[in-house]
Amino acid sequence: MASPRGEFSSRFGFLMAAAGSAVGLGNIWGFPTNAAENGGAAFLFAYLLLAFALAYPALMAELIIGRHARANGVTALQLIATGAKSRAFGTMVGVLGIITVSFILSFYAIVSGWMLAFLIQPFAVWLGLDGFANWLVSDGVTRNALFVVVFMLLTILIISAGVKEGIEKWATRLMPSLVLILLCLIFYVMTLPGATEGLRAYLVPNFAALAQPNLLVSAMGQAFFSLSLGVGTMLVYGSYISKSENLPLIGSLVALLDVGIAVLAGLLILPAMYVALASGVEIYSDSGALIAGPGLIISVLPALFDSMGIIGGVVAAAFFALMVIASLTSSISMLEVPVSFVVEKKAVRRPAAAVFIGGVIAIISLVIVANFDVLFDSVVTLTTEMSQPLLGLFFCIFAGWIWNRSTILDEIRQGSPEAGSGFFWRIWPFYIRFICPIAILLVYLQQFT
Ligand code: TRP
Repeated sequence: MASPRGEFSSRFGFLMAAAGSAVGLGNIWGFPTNAAENGGAAFLFAYLLLAFALAYPALMAELIIGRHARANGVTALQLIATGAKSRAFGTMVGVLGIITVSFILSFYAIVSGWMLAFLIQPFAVWLGLDGFANWLVSDGVTRNALFVVVFMLLTILIISAGVKEGIEKWATRLMPSLVLILLCLIFYVMTLPGATEGLRAYLVPNFAALAQPNLLVSAMGQAFFSLSLGVGTMLVYGSYISKSENLPLIGSLVALLDVGIAVLAGLLILPAMYVALASGVEIYSDSGALIAGPGLIISVLPALFDSMGIIGGVVAAAFFALMVIASLTSSISMLEVPVSFVVEKKAVRRPAAAVFIGGVIAIISLVIVANFDVLFDSVVTLTTEMSQPLLGLFFCIFAGWIWNRSTILDEIRQGSPEAGSGFFWRIWPFYIRFICPIAILLVYLQQFT
């Protein structure tokens, strides 16, 4: 028999879980470097605008559908369908979401495994295990394979324990620690030479950059990835929210937390890069652009920590703890999508489902690790650039065109009785029907031009 459906026990618990899903590797190094490359505060401005005007309405669509259906993504979309055709469409979107998020997890876990290895490295140094310490931070198939498996085991453990005892418990422990570590690191880095240069790169707007068509595209992609949209993650979390909660309010808090932590991360990463520059580390690639992507985290920042002497180990441990926490609260939200589906559709017990699905995803990760150069980038592109935005678009079509408008309003009114006359209801239906699908489509097509 399947176990009864879980529910978050408090608003704080839900907020930490959903913000934990949203705040991940994408925020901490994707956002800051994107900003630095695209006109600093001008990008920040575009990002804020798109996050609230487009990503937030799409987030609300998932939360409302989820809480209404109280079911996994596939069942939820089938439930709100109005006929055989839209039901088949719902099944397809739900299943594609499950496949997409599983592949996202398969590469996300590899990168998270690196973060784990880098976190352990300073401890190995303190214990005098120099050979081991070196191995931990040197790229290699064995290291990557070992740590992806360890990271997946942690994810599986939390998901096996369920919504309250797993997701909520760990998110409420880990997210406040994340904010604390982030703030401490920002204060420390600000005291170092070169930091203000980085602040300037981040915060002085270059409004000419706003005119580049690519700026909006990157800002929107960033916003959608960062809010974990399109694959049913937020839908499933929404299905565990109590009916007495005010959805528009907690949705906007999640968006605020996500954006807020991305902006804070910029106050750490950009100054840190320029501190590294001031101490002789190369921060520009051959093409003259700032080093972004993996190179930033696994070469630039470690070189900076090395140059700091004794305290460098402490700072490195704090920084990689931050990265591991950010990854873990995101990875559990990814694994929950297929697990909730199997538990509810197949009447399998949660721990068995978590081990089985987590195991399959770990095997996919291992295949990618063994063929890294061929597979890694393609899996990232296929899932995050091809599949995810398209699914986001389908979600908007569901909420805007297929699902019955008055049922939506009834759903929002539970927990927020005055919603019908509020600001949210005045604009959201229009947004989700017209603005969101068109905007997503424009961005989607842009990448093929
Ligand atoms: N939002 C997370 C980040 O910024 C990653 C994430 C979690 C995600 N769940 C997701 C991305 C679902 C896409 C889809 O790192």
